[in-house]
Amino acid sequence: MTETEEKVVQAREVVESASNIVVLTGAGISSESGVPTFRGQEGLWQNYRPEELATPEAFWKDPKLVWEWYDWRRNAVKDAKPNPGHYALAELENNVPNLTLVTQNIDGLHQMAGSSNVTEMHGNLWQIRCTKCGDIEQNFDVPLAELPPKCKKCGEMGRPNVVWFGEMIEMSLIDKVLKAIEECHVMLIIGTSGVVEPAASMGLVAKQTDKTVIEINPEETPSSGLYDIVIREKSGEILPLLFTSNRTLS
Ligand code: APR
Repeated sequence: MTETEEKVVQAREVVESASNIVVLTGAGISSESGVPTFRGQEGLWQNYRPEELATPEAFWKDPKLVWEWYDWRRNAVKDAKPNPGHYALAELENNVPNLTLVTQNIDGLHQMAGSSNVTEMHGNLWQIRCTKCGDIEQNFDVPLAELPPKCKKCGEMGRPNVVWFGEMIEMSLIDKVLKAIEECHVMLIIGTSGVVEPAASMGLVAKQTDKTVIEINPEETPSSGLYDIVIREKSGEILPLLFTSNRTLS
């Protein structure tokens, strides 16, 4: 049996014996759906610097430029479909008494795969939030009819309903995630480089409260050394193996 196969067997035993699981995902889980990640080998940030675009300052300085980038990202994601990793987590949700799925992704692919209890830490690419009245509109137009789009309610300028660098995530959301971590038996950390807070510290919180942590990522991350089982493979290949014992590694 290869080292990976041994780890998959270990991870499967842990997951199948857990009744309360927290899953944290990052851009890596969507990379097999053709959605570019931010960092790592084929990262999106190779051509851009986050502070140029994903910040309130950048938006208010040039809302049209920032919206051009989000319109481009919406176009890049519009044809993306969930991959076996997303579907496996949706299946897991139906087989575990208590599963909290927390994602840093804004692509909506977990929901498309059938996950219903999804906490989007960084917002959603398909939502436009009014900069004046705060109304949030679901909008799947690609391309957007006008840039920047206007609020359908009050006519003021809309912004992407995402969390930018320098913006705070609602404390109530973070408290909910930390509580879920405290109550869980196992935490799966999938496809995240573990460099952006507060998500980056969540694996440490799990370890500090004696949870078993399983990381699935082809690349090393700053906290990999803390975790119990580290599987250096693609999530789309590994996740379907974790809860169905009758499959073998491809
Ligand atoms: N399966 C699992 N992991 C993968 C795969 C895959 N098929 N492909 C790539 N990865 C890993 C990469 O090795 C990398 O560690 O996914 C990780 C992606 O890291 P990032 O691009 O930094 O994405 P993420 O960790 O989600 O970024 C966090 O930063 O830019 C902000 O708001 C943005 O939500 C994002 C946050």
